[in-house]
Amino acid sequence: MIMMRRLSAALVALTLVLITAAYGGSGDKGDKGKAGAPGIGDRYFPTLGNGGYDVEHYTLELSYEPGDDVLAGTATIEAEATKALKSFNLDLAGLEVESVTVDGDEAEFERDDAELIVTPAESLAKGGTFTTEVEYSGVPDPESDPSLGIPLGWIPLDDGSYVLSEPNGAQTWYPVNDHPSDKATYTFRITVPDPLIAAANGLLTEQVPGDGSTTYVWESGDPIASYLVEVAVGNFVIVEDGTAAGVPIRHVFAADLADEATEAAAETPEMVEFFSEEWGPYPFEAYGALVVDTPLGVALETQTLSLFGSDTALFAGSEAIFAHELAHQWFGDAVSPERWRDIWLNEGFATYAEWMWKEHDGGESIAESAEDIYRGFEASGDDTVLLDPGPDGLFGAAVYERGGLTLYALRVEVGDDVFTEILRTYFEKFDNQSVTTADFVDVAEDVSGKNLDELFAAWLAQAELPPFPGASA
Ligand code: TRP
Ligand code: ZN
Repeated sequence: MIMMRRLSAALVALTLVLITAAYGGSGDKGDKGKAGAPGIGDRYFPTLGNGGYDVEHYTLELSYEPGDDVLAGTATIEAEATKALKSFNLDLAGLEVESVTVDGDEAEFERDDAELIVTPAESLAKGGTFTTEVEYSGVPDPESDPSLGIPLGWIPLDDGSYVLSEPNGAQTWYPVNDHPSDKATYTFRITVPDPLIAAANGLLTEQVPGDGSTTYVWESGDPIASYLVEVAVGNFVIVEDGTAAGVPIRHVFAADLADEATEAAAETPEMVEFFSEEWGPYPFEAYGALVVDTPLGVALETQTLSLFGSDTALFAGSEAIFAHELAHQWFGDAVSPERWRDIWLNEGFATYAEWMWKEHDGGESIAESAEDIYRGFEASGDDTVLLDPGPDGLFGAAVYERGGLTLYALRVEVGDDVFTEILRTYFEKFDNQSVTTADFVDVAEDVSGKNLDELFAAWLAQAELPPFPGASA
């Protein structure tokens, strides 16, 4: 769902209506519509996402066999046409499509690379909702990551699988409008052979026993960006750890690692309380860590259930990573990037949050963490411009470190209390939506009453590293 929130968008719409009226346009009446665009308009990933519609809900009914890695399923996609459509695209890389229906009628479809082009029997009216059902199967073929060089998508393991998608892996395992500017809610019905367990985002609402298999039903009532959708299959145990600030804490651990993982995740309730206090209530129906039995080299803030590898969860310094992924639930997950080039809004915030947790936990102060990072970053000579890191630089050190330092510079400029108020206001205003850097800058200026152009230009728009904040010139 895309939330209409800008007055200017309403004015543009109004202007178009007036122009149409003036020129005697016939509106949608009898309009066969056009083909929806094959991309949503992200300069870094021109073919990710699609134009012409807005998804509200995905129902993914999947079955997975770790023996042969075959994923088979039906995706039911409820969407609203944002213009009259003769045809529209979904993103789907690989896999075999068996059939597509739209509103119950057989639709024609074509594959072109990672585009699934659907032509419904009847064209779709602007503003109408429609339901697309795609039956598909096959062995998922992961994408290669432009930034980190790791395989992305549905990743098989000997006795299970997991999903790691940021930024473009979701399309390897279900047909999707694969872009964070179109978030939607989800129902998962995943059938796996006993005794395996399937986990996904949200709440486990049902377990339906079958013939040697079980169907696990998970529901996510809050919209999720496609790169944050998780489905994992394995020899798991679900570990409940009470509630924190009213939020149920439930982890999903590879059974082999359950004891160590329980220990590694032990601070989670306190972290949820701490960040809820700082920024406003935790945004979703539950939280926990998913720890799979393989090294990943990374962790990912999959919504309500952050993904960790055995390596990233179970080492002496993993607490900072637990804080980082949890912080993303506010900044990245609830408030998501509208374009990939604004990724510092995710990673800068989560990096700053690591410093907050460290200070809260009796370690280094935020100022000390910031200064350490600043000195290291300065020595690296990294000259990435944060407003345009490039598709290959999305997850480079600058996005994290200079991103965190940008927030630190803002705090030094406006003072602690105003800084906290800025983050709270930004979260409250854009919860469940997608944002650009301008949205954050606007909130910072509104709340502080200051013109911050110079500060943001220095930290975000220029290559040269500004002096350490607070050091007198
Ligand atoms: N967002 C992750 C983090 O910092 C890092 C990340 C970027 C990632 N791309 C990824 C993790 C791809 C897994 C897969 O928390
Ligand atoms: Zn991160």
